[in-house]
Formats: sequence, C-alpha cells, structure tokens
Amino acid sequence: MKLSTLALLAALPHIYNGAMVSENNHQAPKVLFSKASYLNRYNHDIIAEEQNKVSYRDENPKSNLLSSNGDKLQLNTSEINNNTPSAVSAQCSQGNYQVSSTAELEQLYQCDNIVGSVHISNYKGSVIDTGSIQTISGDLSVSNASSLVKINVPNLASIGGTFSLKELTSLASISAPSLNSVDSINWKVLPILSTATLDKGIKQIRSITISDTSLTRVSGFDVATLNTLNLNNNRFLDIISMNVTSIKEKLTISANSKNAIALFPELKWANNITIRDISSINLSNMEKVDESMEFISNNFKSLKLPKLESVGGTLSIIENHNLKEVEFNNIDEIGGGLMIVNNTMIESVNFFPKLSSIGGAIELLGSLKEANFSKLRLVKGSAIIQSVYESFDCSLWTKGLGDSGSIVRGGKITCISGSMKHDMNYNENGEILDESITSIENSNKSSNRFRFSNDASAAKANIAIKIFTAIAMTALIQYL
Ligand SMILES: *[C@@H]1O[C@H](CO)[C@@H](O)[C@H](O)[C@H]1NC(C)=O
Ligand SMILES: *[C@@H]1O[C@H](CO)[C@@H](O)[C@H](O)[C@H]1NC(C)=O
Ligand SMILES: *[C@@H]1O[C@H](CO)[C@@H](O)[C@H](O)[C@H]1NC(C)=O
Ligand SMILES: *[C@@H]1O[C@H](CO)[C@@H](O)[C@H](O)[C@H]1NC(C)=O
Ligand SMILES: *[C@@H]1O[C@H](CO)[C@@H](O)[C@H](O)[C@H]1NC(C)=O
Ligand SMILES: *[C@@H]1O[C@H](CO)[C@@H](O)[C@H](O)[C@H]1NC(C)=O
Ligand SMILES: *[C@@H]1O[C@H](CO)[C@@H](O)[C@H](O)[C@H]1NC(C)=O
Ligand SMILES: *[C@@H]1O[C@H](CO)[C@@H](O)[C@H](O)[C@H]1NC(C)=O
Repeated sequence: MKLSTLALLAALPHIYNGAMVSENNHQAPKVLFSKASYLNRYNHDIIAEEQNKVSYRDENPKSNLLSSNGDKLQLNTSEINNNTPSAVSAQCSQGNYQVSSTAELEQLYQCDNIVGSVHISNYKGSVIDTGSIQTISGDLSVSNASSLVKINVPNLASIGGTFSLKELTSLASISAPSLNSVDSINWKVLPILSTATLDKGIKQIRSITISDTSLTRVSGFDVATLNTLNLNNNRFLDIISMNVTSIKEKLTISANSKNAIALFPELKWANNITIRDISSINLSNMEKVDESMEFISNNFKSLKLPKLESVGGTLSIIENHNLKEVEFNNIDEIGGGLMIVNNTMIESVNFFPKLSSIGGAIELLGSLKEANFSKLRLVKGSAIIQSVYESFDCSLWTKGLGDSGSIVRGGKITCISGSMKHDMNYNENGEILDESITSIENSNKSSNRFRFSNDASAAKANIAIKIFTAIAMTALIQYL
C-alpha cells in the first residue's frame, strides 16, 4: 500500500500536469478501477490544490468542447442519428484515418459512425477527445504521443477492431463511459495509466492484453468466452476478477502487484495457462486444459483445482515458495510432462490420487519425503526424481513393479536421494537395460534447503542432511 502510494506520488507531477483529474474518478468505475480515487483520499491536500487547475473540459468534455470551440464543432445535422451504413457519407468511410493533430481529429466529429480505422500518432496535444463518434468499424490506435495525458471517448460505444494504446508515457486516464463492444484491447507501456473508466461495462470482447500500466484492478468484463487474456507487468494490479467460462487461446498473468489475487471462479476450460507472481488464486471450476498449465513463482499457500480432469500438455508447479495445500483430486491424465520443482514447502507429493498416465516426462525436485501416486500406471517419458533426503526411497522408482515392469517406458530414470544417485535405463516394455548407482557426495549439489557456496559449508550441509535424515520420517513411495 505504502509503496504504491509512493510510486504514484512520484508520478504526480505528470498525472496532475494539465487537464487530468476528473470528478468522476471518485466513483468506482465498473470495469477498471484505479488507485486515483484512493489516492485522492490519501493525498487530499495535493489533490485540493491540483483540482483548482483542473480544466473544465474534464467534467463534461463534450459540452465544454462545444462551448469553448463552438465554431469548430458544428455537427453536421444531416448525419446525426443516421446509423445506416448507406447513409454514412464518403467522409466517414475512408477506411483509414491518420490523425496527428487536434484539428484533424475534430474533422471526424461530423461522423457518428466511422467506417474504417482511426490511427492517431505523432500527436502533440495533451487530450484526445473523439467527441460525438459512436462507432468505429476498424481499429482505434494511439501511439507516439508523449504529451498525451488523457483520452476521452465519451460517446464511443463500439470499436470493431483493436483498441490499441502503445507507449504513451504521460497517459494517466482513459474515459470510455459508453464503450460496450470492442474486438480487442491491447494496451502496452502506459506506465502512469491509473484510471480507465469503462462505466458501461464491456459486454463483447475477444482479447485483452494490458501490460505495463499502473491500473490496480481488472474486473467486470461481462463475457463468457475470451480468446486471450494477458495481464503482465502492471505493478499495482491487485485484483483480477472475471466470470469468463472459457479462454480459447491463452491466459497469462505475470509480474503484477506481488499481492495480486486472480479470481476465475467460473472458468471451466482454457487452452493454455500461465500464472506467475500471484498471491491467491481461484480456479475452482476448472475442468480441462488443452495445452499447458503452469504455476511459477507464485506466493499463494493453496492451489486447489478439485474439478480438473485433464491437462493436454505439461503441468508445471515450480518455485511456489509458500505453497502448502495442493489439490488435484480429479485429474487422471496429463498429456505432456509433470514438473513439481523447488516448491519449498511441499514435502509430500500425494495430491494426485487419480492420476493414471503421464504422456511426457516426470520431474519431481525438492525437499521431498514422499511421492505417492497411487494410481499411476504409465509414464511415457523419463523420470527425474530428486530429494534432499537420503531416506527418500528411490527403489520403487528404479525397480520395476513386479510383472508389469517399470511404469516408466522407453526412458530413463534418475532418482537422487540425499547423496546417492540412481540411474536406470528402460526399454519400451519397462525392462531394465542398464543401471548404475553413484555417490554425488562431493559434487556441487544444491537444493531448496541447502545452497553451498564453498566446500567448507558443503561439508557442514552434508552433516545437516545426515541429521535431517536421522530424524526424517520414513519415506513413503507407493504405487498401489
Ligand atoms: C453535411 O453532410 C452532407 C452529407 O454528407 C454533405 O452533403 C454536406 O455538405 C455536409 N454539410 C456540411 C456543412 O459539412
Ligand atoms: C514520433 O513523433 C515525433 C514527433 O512528434 C517524430 O519526430 C517521430 O518520428 C515519431 N516516431 C515514430 C516512430 O513515428
Ligand atoms: C460474477 O457473477 C456473480 C454472480 O452472477 C456476480 O455477483 C459477480 O459480480 C460477477 N463478478 C464479476 C467479476 O463480474
Ligand atoms: C472460489 O470462488 C467460488 C465462488 O466465489 C467460491 O464458492 C469458492 O469457495 C472459491 N474457492 C476457493 C478455493 O477459494
Ligand atoms: C502455452 O504457453 C507456454 C508458456 O507461455 C508456451 O511456451 C507454449 O508454446 C504455449 N503453447 C501453445 C500451444 O500455445
Ligand atoms: C497414498 O495415497 C492414497 C490415496 O490418496 C492413500 O489412500 C494412501 O494411504 C497413500 N499412501 C501412503 C503410504 O501415504
Ligand atoms: C562446483 O562449483 C564451482 C563454482 O560454481 C565450480 O568452479 C566447480 O567446478 C564445481 N565442481 C563440480 C565438481 O561441479
Ligand atoms: C530448482 O532449484 C535448483 C537449486 O536452487 C536450481 O538449480 C534449478 O534451476 C531450479 N529449477 C527450476 C526449474 O527453477
């Protein structure tokens, strides 16, 4: 909280430089909600002073524009309220509009409905206002406008293509109170963007990419299906909440606020998922992932996907240092590999009670005392199992299982328990081709628990491992 306030305060000279702070910021916008309103409360004195400088344009952009620039903004009444494509004048259907000045933009005010794309670049002004424009059939893009502080699209309800904002280093707020339909949002490198008011709520959208902004919340997009959702490097983004049920291409969440929570309670199906740096997650209805699913460097304590049945690609759970409670009670098949690596608090891998086959390799690495896959019958790739504990029992991995041979087919098993390394090679029938056991006592072995910087500390750590071993519970590995 402190940190983000400070960081935003640092940005204040930009944020409050010019026509910026809207009274509307005091209301919680429906879709994207930012720190600005909260900042207003916490920095009241600054705001009070700055508000005197706030231009009247912000409070009611359209009418003020009209009153202040009345002559420029005469609307061509023959066009107003006439939405049929055939009536769109040639001027409003030029296909591609390159805009680089306020004057050029204002020429478009005569169009309620633009057939084509509007590309604004090399724009020197501090405010972009699209006036009476209601629909743009193509894209709306803004780039290379380093003085731009605010974007107002007061009447814009629909963008047929991409709403693209790129590298706008002074942009602090976006007001789009009427916007309800857009094909894609692609907002990248808007480092001080802290307010995006989408009061109407987006009911139609296919893809959302929001990267490197100062937004604090992304929620309320009222859509069942998305192609992609990619939220990354938004350093104040704390709350991500959406009722989406399926994501056809990719869900990516990474490098947002370190307290970020991600709530997707209705999500049932996604093609590919990457979740990083999240402090709490809800995927309680997730049933199926077609490609990969990875959870990396998260702070969450609990990861529960009680309904997940299958992952088509690789399931990775890596370096989640607070993770303790893991639940995958329904998963029976993983098409790719399974990686459970360097999760400091996980000592027992016993949370796959139904998992019967793994299409790729299996890699388990960490402070493991137990790895219990009671239903696992087939691992098509190789296996690397490594525990810091000497007491970890490799024999169940390295010996075949009675008549059926090893569950690891056509691959190689390396199992390291403490300082002993077992290597086995199998053919595709699970029969042993060769095997070796070596001591790795003097090599540079490291683990979550022990990191060695020199030989002396390595020796101490080896003693520590042995003491641990002495008190460690009996390792349990069981397939049946
Ligand atoms: C208003 O639009 C009509 C139809 O496009 C056009 O013929 C007319 O010249 C326009 N009037 C003005 C004042 O721009
Ligand atoms: C960005 O705008 C500046 C001036 O406004 C111009 O000199 C520069 O060439 C533009 N850069 C790009 C990549 O369009
Ligand atoms: C999700 O749906 C529930 C119930 O319909 C609603 O209360 C909640 O506000 C919705 N959440 C979001 C983020 O839209
Ligand atoms: C996830 O969210 C749903 C709906 O809000 C709730 O019922 C459920 O308890 C949550 N699950 C977890 C693990 O927080
Ligand atoms: C799924 O996401 C991962 C991680 O971003 C990526 O490496 C992989 O190529 C993606 N797979 C597909 C099929 O898009
Ligand atoms: C292994 O897991 C199964 C199912 O979760 C359980 O019934 C069994 O007791 C576990 N075995 C050990 C040795 O922990
Ligand atoms: C151990 O690590 C040191 C420094 O990282 C390296 O110089 C040395 O070759 C390593 N020894 C072995 C046996 O890998
Ligand atoms: C796991 O930790 C070890 C030791 O710190 C490190 O060498 C390895 O790269 C880590 N693996 C992954 C996948 O993060």
